[in-house]
Amino acid sequence: MTEERLSLEQRGDRYTHGHHQSVVQSHARRRAEVEAWFLLPRLAPDMRLLDVGCGPGTITTGLARAVAGGSVIGLDAAESVLEHAREHAASEDVGNIEFVSGDVYALEFADRSFDVVYANQLLQHLTDPVAAIVEMRRVLKPGGWLGVRDADYATMSPHPKFAEFDDWNRLYHEVAYRNQAEPDAGRVLASWVRAAGFESVELHPNVVAMEGEEARIWGRTWSQRILYSGIADQALEYGLADEAALERISGGWARWAESAEPFFMFTQIAVLAAKEAG
Ligand SMILES: C[S@@+](CC[C@H](N)C(=O)[O-])C[C@H]1O[C@@H](n2cnc3c(N)ncnc32)[C@H](O)[C@@H]1O
Repeated sequence: MTEERLSLEQRGDRYTHGHHQSVVQSHARRRAEVEAWFLLPRLAPDMRLLDVGCGPGTITTGLARAVAGGSVIGLDAAESVLEHAREHAASEDVGNIEFVSGDVYALEFADRSFDVVYANQLLQHLTDPVAAIVEMRRVLKPGGWLGVRDADYATMSPHPKFAEFDDWNRLYHEVAYRNQAEPDAGRVLASWVRAAGFESVELHPNVVAMEGEEARIWGRTWSQRILYSGIADQALEYGLADEAALERISGGWARWAESAEPFFMFTQIAVLAAKEAG
């Protein structure tokens, strides 16, 4: 087995969020119109598209609608989350879609077999994002599009400010770095795509801004996630926080969510790149 084909466990990759219901429910709120806005104009009805690290598949289902005469495969390393994805696609009556478990580092597809390969919020979690993009490039047809998008956690900013937010942001970075991941992936995404062999890349940045009920849901979600999801388990296991600290951060998020006018913003960076012909 070559270095490029090492399995997930052999690489030691660990997904910071895990798949607690507080995480999956939050990810299941995502839609293609918002998360793949930069890619949708490039899609044609007959395309074959791969969504890598598809999670609960709500974006994937929207992408399948955009290529209604073609087909979509949603792939994720966690079989448990694919059950949500299949249920969602069925509930939306979208049939040109299949969900399979797999590993981005070793995709079980032939070279040059997809018109589009997409990944939202995956690369930031990997120990070797460039190797992952090389593998995504392998399965792209010449002329096909790579579309990848990642947040940049250092840009996250709440209003009103609260001290527990700073503790949360610091802890999130510490756990992610302990996993040899890159929580500020947005700012290095284009360089990863170039390092993987794409000659020209398009940057598509956007600012996510939430207020009202959307911001309250975000705050409530994080008040749960910091207690019960993968980041909580890992923060405790790595000795980066104790339970009292997690309770304090959770309480801060919960109070912020119920403040008079919560507002939250951060930067998302998308990169679009065509695989050169030949
Ligand atoms: C932050 S979630 C993003 C889910 C979805 N793309 C979205 O934006 O809602 C990252 C997903 O990548 C998956 N993942 C992590 N490492 C992976 C790997 N090596 N191969 C495939 N999927 C992986 C996780 O299981 C998780 O479901």
